[in-house]
Amino acid sequence: MKFFIDTANLAQIKEANDLGILDGVTTNPSLMAKEGINGKDAIYKHYSDICEIVDGDVSAEVISTDFKGIVEEGKVLAAIHPNIIVKVPMIKDGVKAIKWFSSNGIKTNCTLVFSAGQAILAAKAGATYVSPFVGRIDDSGWDGMELISQMSHIYTLHGYKTEILAASIRSALHIIKAAEAGADVCTCPLDSILGLLKHPLTDIGLAKFLEDAKKL
Ligand code: G3P
Repeated sequence: MKFFIDTANLAQIKEANDLGILDGVTTNPSLMAKEGINGKDAIYKHYSDICEIVDGDVSAEVISTDFKGIVEEGKVLAAIHPNIIVKVPMIKDGVKAIKWFSSNGIKTNCTLVFSAGQAILAAKAGATYVSPFVGRIDDSGWDGMELISQMSHIYTLHGYKTEILAASIRSALHIIKAAEAGADVCTCPLDSILGLLKHPLTDIGLAKFLEDAKKL
């Protein structure tokens, strides 16, 4: 399973990249706003800065919702850097635009996916990635990981090439469950990635080894 970091924060992206396990980055308008990035030029420059840090796919989301607007915006985003993946919402014109992008050699990430039906549409349109929002499904009282398993089953059964990118990840356990359920990629906040490191027996064991090492 590939690891992406789900943030627009450059310091966190650098920290995750320095770990040596980072395969890419996902952003969205909310994450960009959180970093105080305002205006098209600043946003495009920020994507370019992210691409300079990480050698991997970087999702950049369109804010247009009509076919023509999505295509025009996507072309501009894709021109920023070869690693840019155009992130498109799961709406009717979005599906149409994903088909246009896939027919024209532009990679996409279909976002805001909450059902298997939406996941089938994204795959049929030729999305490179599809992003089911695990945490938000959990928030609404359903099981987000069930959707990852269902999508993995359907994609394998029908040979769809679209990669399942588990998104809206909130914890280290989510990452493990996403790997078990067959996600190809997991995009996570830095805290969830670092949470995978933690185990009290590791700390206790290391303290003992270091103590015994003094006797050598
Ligand atoms: O990857 C999508 C993500 O940014 C949404 O996460 O926690 O706002 O549901 P969250």
